[in-house]
Amino acid sequence: MHILKSRPWNLPESQVTPESLVFGRRKALALGAGMLGAGPAMAQQSGLPPAMRNTRYPPGRTITPEHDVTTYNNFYEFGSHKTISAAARRMPQRPWTVKVEGMVESPREYGIEDLLRRMPMEERVYRLRCVEAWAMVVPWTGFQFSALMAEVKPLSSARYVVFQTAVLPSVMPGLRQTWYPWPYTEGCTIAEAANELSFMVVGAYGKLLPPQNGGPIRFHQPWKYGFKAGKSLVTIRFTNQRPVTFWEKLQPQEYGFWANVNPAVHHPRWSQAQERMLGTGETMPTLLFNGYGEFVADLYTNLQNERLWA
Ligand code: MTE
Repeated sequence: MHILKSRPWNLPESQVTPESLVFGRRKALALGAGMLGAGPAMAQQSGLPPAMRNTRYPPGRTITPEHDVTTYNNFYEFGSHKTISAAARRMPQRPWTVKVEGMVESPREYGIEDLLRRMPMEERVYRLRCVEAWAMVVPWTGFQFSALMAEVKPLSSARYVVFQTAVLPSVMPGLRQTWYPWPYTEGCTIAEAANELSFMVVGAYGKLLPPQNGGPIRFHQPWKYGFKAGKSLVTIRFTNQRPVTFWEKLQPQEYGFWANVNPAVHHPRWSQAQERMLGTGETMPTLLFNGYGEFVADLYTNLQNERLWA
């Protein structure tokens, strides 16, 4: 197992933060905080609770323009193409309930506003690498998944977490494509879910998360291909059964359960060695674990017999 000793990038924060976010950055620096962000005033206008930027995870690349992130999407419930943003905006975002169930001590049903109020919000600038070889860098607002785990208390017998997307036929035309195994279901091991990088996303660019990006709530594990990041979640289930996930069910020879980013393991139909940045179109080398090996490589040291990379 290849374990990265240091981050494979080395850009100072000043080269990462775009002009539009520098104001918030200066403000936080002036406060002497170790975390940067847009600050409470801006957050309140947006409907998001105050969230400071956590600088522990420098993305090493320039933040992708918001317009590109919010208009080029994968959300098959709204169509199997990238221009689903207008259709997705028809999906009501309130009221919204997320059930946390299965092998936990305290199953819960959260209204989204309740979750926003009670979870420790922060902003993280994370890279996202789609299995289709495009990539982006986004300032997400949300909370570490482990905070939710601490509330519901998984039983020691729970081994996996399963994430399920809403099924709303009246606004999701893609559901009529009945050959897809709806609902969109994703999952990971408990250890992966408890990793500090695993993040529940409720906002982007200092605003509530737009429906096309998975509003009001989606998951994100930045070291895995983007298809692992279930959008518009309604159920989070703790179980001892490994789920067969959406793409795995559809094309098991191309997509698996683990889906960790690896430049050396190619998709059967294209290379994974390079990635194209949304917005600039720049081509860059793909990084092992999408550059997050320092945080996650240890999760896989005893799993050499698993198909970890597709
Ligand atoms: N979640 C659902 N419910 N439906 C989807 O089609 N697509 C996935 C993932 N989550 C998808 C989903 C894929 S393939 C990617 S790359 C990311 O969402 C894209 O997220 P974005 O549109 O915010 O870039």
